[in-house]
Amino acid sequence: MDTTIILVGPMAAGKSTIGKKLAQVLDCPFYDVDQVIEEKTGVHIPWIFEQEGEAGFRKREHDVLNDLMQRQGCVLATGGGTVLLPENRSLLKSRGLVFYLRVTVEQQLRQLGRDPGKRRPLLAKGNPREILKNLNALREPLYREVAQHVIEIEQYRVPELISCIIKLAKA
Ligand code: S3P
Repeated sequence: MDTTIILVGPMAAGKSTIGKKLAQVLDCPFYDVDQVIEEKTGVHIPWIFEQEGEAGFRKREHDVLNDLMQRQGCVLATGGGTVLLPENRSLLKSRGLVFYLRVTVEQQLRQLGRDPGKRRPLLAKGNPREILKNLNALREPLYREVAQHVIEIEQYRVPELISCIIKLAKA
């Protein structure tokens, strides 16, 4: 398949897990924006937030997205906040097929487990439930703006989700 499948959505929606499996089934490369940032810098994301603030992280995120968007025929998982910058939204809308993986706060909290702030710096400074609720409210229109398809992931098991995305991508 020549199309690039791009997954957007909030933290712990399963973008990386689903993206990896999707790429396996489609037999194509998988890229994860967060993972590429960590590989390039050699440090974990919380450390980048600590040293450079959110703005520094967003700049790195933009550069990596820009680079990955040049590739075709792959699956790409974005970070929860990749849709924040207007230039990222333009990039996401310009190429590929974008799926918004929609999830409830309850499901996010279940996925994040006991220490939601450990790998997610935005959740480290406050009540994770409140922060997720506020972020989702702010970002929901941005995910919808870039996505051709919205998938309510709670309705599916992972294999069903993969088939559903493939069917839509090939339609
Ligand atoms: C962020 C989500 C994270 C990561 C960073 C910021 C966000 O990615 O990019 O911690 O702004 O929602 P995941 O969505 O993969 O957790």
